[in-house]
Amino acid sequence: SAEPLVLGIESSCDETGVGIVRGTELLANAVSSSMDEHVRFGGVIPEIASRAHLDALIPTLRSALDTAGVSLDDVDALAVTSGPGLSGALMVGVAAAKALALATGKPLYAINHLVAHVGVGVLDGGALPRSLGALLVSGGHTEILRVDALASDVTLLGATIDDAAGEAYDKVARLLGLGYPGGPAIDRIARGGNPKAIRFPRGLTLPKFMGTADSPGRHRYDFSFSGLKTAVARCVEQYEARGEEIPVADIAASFQEAVVDVVTSKAVLACREQGLENLLLGGGVAANSRLRELLAARCASAGIALRIPRPGLCTDNGAMVAALAAQVVMAGGRPSGIAFGTDSGQP
Ligand code: KG4
Ligand code: ZN
Repeated sequence: SAEPLVLGIESSCDETGVGIVRGTELLANAVSSSMDEHVRFGGVIPEIASRAHLDALIPTLRSALDTAGVSLDDVDALAVTSGPGLSGALMVGVAAAKALALATGKPLYAINHLVAHVGVGVLDGGALPRSLGALLVSGGHTEILRVDALASDVTLLGATIDDAAGEAYDKVARLLGLGYPGGPAIDRIARGGNPKAIRFPRGLTLPKFMGTADSPGRHRYDFSFSGLKTAVARCVEQYEARGEEIPVADIAASFQEAVVDVVTSKAVLACREQGLENLLLGGGVAANSRLRELLAARCASAGIALRIPRPGLCTDNGAMVAALAAQVVMAGGRPSGIAFGTDSGQP
């Protein structure tokens, strides 16, 4: 068949992923997470993540090959996330991919992690539309991208200048005693709270940051969540100082509303101003029920078609790396060789 069989490796954070695709068809997506080992620290510890990747890589590779029912000989191309991510963690996947490329003689493609979060969209709904924006929200990143050509022309329109959205969820969950990772816990408890109970700050939405459509401010499409996190901390302290019970559900719902309001409004604004008729949502926070609800409503009002891949493809995984590499192969992109390093590079 003309569709390339591609094996992709992902190790930029705490997930060891090996995915196999044939063109836009998903054959396997094996993921091993070291999250359990980070829970007691309340965040991902890079050194622990790197060691976990070393342990998990070969078993995850075997599992993906088993599931897909293919052997390494069958594979047309190899791919690996080269960045951005934790450098020690990235190095494990990159070294493994280079070793596989050397041993098998297969071409190897270095893949940008952020663009892979977009490229994975082809596995759920087929070829991506032209005129595409992407909103990526996870524990490691919060970005708005403009995708003119998946394989060669992706522009970073905006990004967080401090914490990522998922990181803010995790930090606020910790303040509220909800455990780690905090996103799912806040999502759940917020359903029983009033999102209008407390008006928390919407980062980088003041006119001095936004500017106007004709004269955009420097942070028009950027995000900031550290002020929000501090505001939640002050709020909790005030209840404690007064000896009052902390209204956890109301605070969670109000915090969540602040995050979701900002990311959805800026993503829709970017699409309108850039003339993008489609928006793809990616990253672990894409699982958030309020985010899905508000983004769907705002996209519908703005006439923007929204695509959200299934949850297992939104969180970090190897199939996204393979899916993007397959697009690069089909667009005639050249392999990367084996001399590339890890990079914190933008798309
Ligand atoms: O993409 P991901 O699995 O890993 C990276 O960070 O790259 O995303 C994990 C993040 C965590 O911060 C977690 O709290 C958040 O996604 N998350 C959520 C939800 N599920 C996971 N945040 C809000 N609501 C959720 N339902
Ligand atoms: Zn990611």
